[in-house]
Amino acid sequence: MRRILIAGNWKMNLTALEARVLVASLRSDIDRDAAALARDRDVLIAPPAVLIPAVSQALAGASIALGAQNMHFEDQGAFTGEVSAPMLKGFGVTHVILGHSERRHVFHENDDLINRKILAAARHRLTPILCVGETQHEHDAGRALEVVLTQLQAGLSGLYPQHRGEVMVAYEPVWAIGTGRNATPEQAEHVHGAIRESLRDQFGQEIADSIRILYGGSVTADNVDSLVSKPNIDGALVGGASLKADSFARIVRARVD
Ligand code: 13P
Repeated sequence: MRRILIAGNWKMNLTALEARVLVASLRSDIDRDAAALARDRDVLIAPPAVLIPAVSQALAGASIALGAQNMHFEDQGAFTGEVSAPMLKGFGVTHVILGHSERRHVFHENDDLINRKILAAARHRLTPILCVGETQHEHDAGRALEVVLTQLQAGLSGLYPQHRGEVMVAYEPVWAIGTGRNATPEQAEHVHGAIRESLRDQFGQEIADSIRILYGGSVTADNVDSLVSKPNIDGALVGGASLKADSFARIVRARVD
């Protein structure tokens, strides 16, 4: 069955010093139970690009994987301010969050650009975590599934068969991000089920069943258990609550009923 993934998206937070302190506290907490946790779950943190070298060093020998929050689709070239997959891989990065709603809405990334990044990540064997989610306005208009499934199909289009099982999806309703208003487990499960069905149409049953679909949007220690207990919710992408060692460590220990 699918393993749970608890991923922390630090967004644009922390200095190198603060990052080292946070990783040290996380390690002293999570590494203690590493063997037990490793039985059914994975843990990942995604710091800002400039902190990746420091965090990579601080994570040496830890059971926590390292992710990036974005990347360019080209390997190198005249793309001021960007970082590429080979650069990230050089620091032990294994996952990359792509198409986050802040990239879509603040930086105007569209489905086509996100798709090029997904294909580049897969080609470099970095696991892409494709984020999808509807805005409040789209939600109120009853268009959540239409928006999410369009983003999903566009984001994953053109993947080679050998890469299809290596992607992850994160459903992050925009109205739940940083608002303290998470989707209820039932609301999230409804969308996750539709995502799974769409993956089945796109890639077939076996691959669809193996792809992890995370939920993100105001996940806390108090609501994570009921979310990840739903059959199609395979983990959490955590923003604010991943910036404190105690809350993230508690989320990592989510109870799946
Ligand atoms: P919050 O957990 O702060 O709502 O952020 C969610 C998110 O955007 C994770 O990628």
